[in-house]
Amino acid sequence: MKRVNFLLLFILTAIQSIAQQNFKNGVVVSAHPEASKVGVDILKKGGNAIDASVAVQFALAVVYPNAGNIGGGGFLVYRDAKGNVDALDYREKAPLAAKEDMYWGSDGNAITELSLYGQLAAGVPGTVDGMVKAYQKYGKLSWNELIQPAIDLAEKGFPITQMQADELNEKFSEFKKYNQSKNPFTTKNIWVNGDLFVQKDLANTLKLVQQKGRKGFYEGKVADLIVKEMKRGNGIISKKDLKEYQSAWRTPVSGTYKGFKVISMPPPSSGGIALVSLFQSVEKYPLKEWGFQSEKSIQVMVEAERRVYADRAEHLGDPDFIKVPQTQLLNKAYNVNRMNDFSFDRASKSSEIKAGEMIGKESMETTHYSIVDKEGNAVSVTTTLNGSYGSLVVVDGAGFLLNNEMDDFSVKPGTPNLYGLVGGKANAIAPSKRMLSSMSPSILEKDGELYMVVGTPGGSTIITSVFQTILNVIEFGMTMQEAVAAPRFHHQWLPDRIDIEPNAISTDVRTSLINKGYELKERKPYGRVEGILVNADGTYQSGADPRGDDKAEGY
Ligand code: DON
Repeated sequence: MKRVNFLLLFILTAIQSIAQQNFKNGVVVSAHPEASKVGVDILKKGGNAIDASVAVQFALAVVYPNAGNIGGGGFLVYRDAKGNVDALDYREKAPLAAKEDMYWGSDGNAITELSLYGQLAAGVPGTVDGMVKAYQKYGKLSWNELIQPAIDLAEKGFPITQMQADELNEKFSEFKKYNQSKNPFTTKNIWVNGDLFVQKDLANTLKLVQQKGRKGFYEGKVADLIVKEMKRGNGIISKKDLKEYQSAWRTPVSGTYKGFKVISMPPPSSGGIALVSLFQSVEKYPLKEWGFQSEKSIQVMVEAERRVYADRAEHLGDPDFIKVPQTQLLNKAYNVNRMNDFSFDRASKSSEIKAGEMIGKESMETTHYSIVDKEGNAVSVTTTLNGSYGSLVVVDGAGFLLNNEMDDFSVKPGTPNLYGLVGGKANAIAPSKRMLSSMSPSILEKDGELYMVVGTPGGSTIITSVFQTILNVIEFGMTMQEAVAAPRFHHQWLPDRIDIEPNAISTDVRTSLINKGYELKERKPYGRVEGILVNADGTYQSGADPRGDDKAEGY
C-alpha cells in the first residue's frame, strides 16, 4: 500500500513538474479547481488580489467544506505592488462564557472529545468579518460580484472529486452522530466522483452576507440559527459573542534569510515567529552544499525545529492577552545561540516532559491559497475549521460547518492537542481570547521585490512544511512545483521524533540518523502547499500540491 502511495505521488509529481506553467498576469493556487477558477475570473474582470481572495474564501466554503469556511477563521498576509505589507487576523475567539477548565472532567483530566467535536468545540467564527474588513480596506470590484460565484456553486451544486467523495463517505456516520437534521452531509453515504453537491441553505446564508455584509452573519437570521444550534448541543456561543466579534489588522512579522525577506503572520499565530526563528537558526550552515535531505541538512533543520517548537509551547499565545516576547524570539543572536549546544555526532534530547502521540489522522483539513494579480499585489491566506469538517456540526438551516478551533488552546497544560502540541499558561483558554495557531501564510521578497507567496495546511507541520518549501527553492534549486511536491519531514520538540513522509529521506540517511539517536516515524503524506514564484523576467511560476486536488489557474 505504501509503495502504491509513493508511486502515485511520484507519477503525479513528475506530471506536474513537466506541466510547470508560467503565467504573465496573475495566478491563483488553491486546494480546489473550482475555487482557483473563481479567483482567476475575478482577476480577469479587473479585480485585484484582495478581491480574488475574498471570492476564493467564499468559494472554498462551498467547494471545499473540510476546511474552506464561513464558520471558522484564518489569516491573510498582504503585500501590495509597492511593497507595503499588512496582516489580517480573522482567527476565531473563545466565547465569553468560556473557562480555562471547560474541557476538564471531574477527575481533572482533559476530555479532548469535547474540544474536538460538537457545539462546545466551536470558537466564535471570524471569516465573514475578516472578508468584510479586507474588502473595505483594499477591495475594488463590487462586494456583490465577489460572493456571487460562491452562491452559484452552492445553489446549483458542483461536481465533487474522487478524493472528496471518499472523505464524505468516510465521515458519514460521524456527520449523523453530530447532526440530527437533514443536510447535504447527512443525506447519503455513497458519493462517487462527479456527483453534484448542492447546498441550498448555505446559498441562502451567503445571500444574506452578500446583501447585508457582516450583519448578514453576526446578526439576524444566521445569528439566531447559530445560537439555536448551540442550544441543541452543549455549545456556548451567544448573540453577544457574535455581535462583538471583530477581526484585527496586525503588523506582519518579518525577518531576513540571506538575501531574502520573509514576511509572515504574527501572533496569535506562532507561524511567522517560528518561521523566522528557524531561518535564523540555520542561516550559518551551508545547506546548499550539503544538499536536499542530506544527513547534515536534516540534522540542522531538525535541531532548529526542536528548539523553536519548545519556545512556541512556552511563550506564544494571543498578544491581546499575554505579553509575547517577540523581540527576543526574533533576535538573530538568540536563535544562533540556541544552536550552540547541538552536536552532529548525536541527536539532542527533548525535555523529559511526557509527550503525547499525534492523534490527527489526516492532514488535509485546513487550506491555503496564494494569489498574485496583474499589478503584482500578493495575498497569502490560510483558513481553517481546524479538524476535517471542524466540529462536524452543520448549523441547522444555515448550511455551514462550525469550527473546532477551541482545541488549539492548551486545554490543559501538558495535554497534547489534535496535533500533539503541548502548551501552558500562555495559550490557556480565556473569554474572548484567540487560540494559538501554526498557520503561516507567507510572502518573500528578494532585493526588495516580490519573490514568493506560500503557505499550507497541516496543523503543527505547517511551519516546517513552509520552511522546507522555501529552502527547496532558495537552497536546493527546485522549481515552485518541485518544491511543493518534494517529500517532507517534521520535528516539533514533543514528541521527540522526526515524522517523515513515506518517500522522504534515503534509506542510508535514515540509518545514520537512527544510529545517532533520532527516532524516525513514517506517516501519511501531509500538507498541501500552494506557492507562487516570481521568475527573473517577472512572470509567475506556480506550485500546486499533488497530494490533493489542488490546482493553479492563471492567465
Ligand atoms: O491554526 C492551526 O494551527 C490549526 N487549527 C490548523 C489546522 C490544520 O492545519 C489542519 N490541517 N491539517
